[in-house]
Amino acid sequence: MPVFEWDKNYELGIDEFDEHHKQLVGLLNETYDTFTGGERHETFGEILDRLIDYATYHFAAEERWMGLNGYGGLQKHRMEHDEFSRRVVEIQDAFLKAKKHLPIETLVLLKEWLLDHILKEDADYGRFAAQSRNV
Ligand SMILES: [Fe+2]
Ligand SMILES: [Fe+2]
Repeated sequence: MPVFEWDKNYELGIDEFDEHHKQLVGLLNETYDTFTGGERHETFGEILDRLIDYATYHFAAEERWMGLNGYGGLQKHRMEHDEFSRRVVEIQDAFLKAKKHLPIETLVLLKEWLLDHILKEDADYGRFAAQSRNV
């Protein structure tokens, strides 16, 4: 069962970023499945690489959008993104150095962070975009 079930209520109403979020959630689910499935460590390392790459791509795209559209919360939002990236890299580092998994709670926390971020910080720029369209 996926750790993170996508729900239509999580959509921001900006197609590009809603699509990114679905991809990100899919990758997080794959990471979780690989972790719980007892796959060999190369596989877990590879999926973490893909998660880091995609998160980096998505965060940069959001921050670029915020800059172009004059969204006031850009700096704070960027710090949030950096925090997520730091956490995933920490998981990757611990895994590569110790050749062992961190507790499963680490991934659950990652999922909770991402859901919370989409529902609060991302939803906030979603509302900003909707208001700008109505001006
Ligand atoms: Fe974001
Ligand atoms: Fe996002």
